[in-house]
Amino acid sequence: MKRSIRFSVPLAAVIVIFAAAPEAQAAGKLTLYCSPQIEWCQLVIKEFQKATGIKVAMTRKSSGETFAQINAERKNPKGDVWWGGTGDPHLQAAEEGLTIEYKSPMLGKLHPWAQNQAKTSGYKTVGIYMGALGFGYNTKLLAKKGLPAPKCWKDLTKPIYKGEVQIASPHSSGTSYTTLATMVQLFGEDEGFKFLQALHKNINQYTKSGSAPIKAAARGETTIGITFLHDVVTQVIKGMPIKAVAPCEGTGFEIGSMSIIKGARNLASAKKWVDWALSPGAQKLMPKAKAYQVPSNASVAPPPEAPKMADIKLINYNFKKYGSSAERKRLLKRWDKEVKALPR
Ligand code: F6P
Repeated sequence: MKRSIRFSVPLAAVIVIFAAAPEAQAAGKLTLYCSPQIEWCQLVIKEFQKATGIKVAMTRKSSGETFAQINAERKNPKGDVWWGGTGDPHLQAAEEGLTIEYKSPMLGKLHPWAQNQAKTSGYKTVGIYMGALGFGYNTKLLAKKGLPAPKCWKDLTKPIYKGEVQIASPHSSGTSYTTLATMVQLFGEDEGFKFLQALHKNINQYTKSGSAPIKAAARGETTIGITFLHDVVTQVIKGMPIKAVAPCEGTGFEIGSMSIIKGARNLASAKKWVDWALSPGAQKLMPKAKAYQVPSNASVAPPPEAPKMADIKLINYNFKKYGSSAERKRLLKRWDKEVKALPR
């Protein structure tokens, strides 16, 4: 009897230690899937690691690509948090049960548009920034080619711009999916597709990432790049001969979002990341990485260089509808059939 008591205490302690070990180890790690510009991903990771001691492993991929990866890994999730990228695929991930509900204590500090994004998804995602869609052109190339300055979406379909326009693929890129959904909402679905067919004739390349076209314009590889206006501003700030255009007809916008992946192996770290990423301290970092989106924390003013939302004609973008799984699949299928398949 005495013997069994003597042995049972250390045995229990060993069991407790083994049971606690995986959690204790996991608390110090985080795997982040990052969809905004790489410079911003790297800066926030550095600052988060400094603030919390949690070690972050990161992969940067475009919004549509990250969505596809999380979907492919659904039975064996490898990521903890998907940070950034356009809101539509985050909403789709929420609908498809790939992400989990989390109500950060920071929620009440956010702009209504960021809180609405959370509400729409059943709190499975949340807005971290906002940005309007538009295009930019290389002023030197435009002058050299003797082309007029485009001011409207419809200008980009004129035959004089044949081979002069670049945009990403709406499958891989959230920017480009936002463009597709914007045209459908701005012109009506059939007219929107007619616009995209006419635009297709002028496209020199469909890139993977949404900001690649304006980077290519800065290098003089394309005259015009369709992208978010904050990505155009980044090139202007870098001193490139680029001019931003908020199209005359009006335009769509993104609510860049963040979600915790279902089955996250480092859930406690994931929640810490979400709380931190919504804090004023984290959101004030944006201009340091030459990121000029509008921050979602209402106490953080957008950087002075950021595009002025009040001066841009924004459409009443229907995030619920265009972020829904069925609508996204349907529009992408129609784009493949009626736009991508056409000769250029
Ligand atoms: O470059 C930053 C950014 O425009 C974000 O504002 C946006 O969420 C993301 O890139 C979209 O990238 P992609 O079009 O490659 O998915």
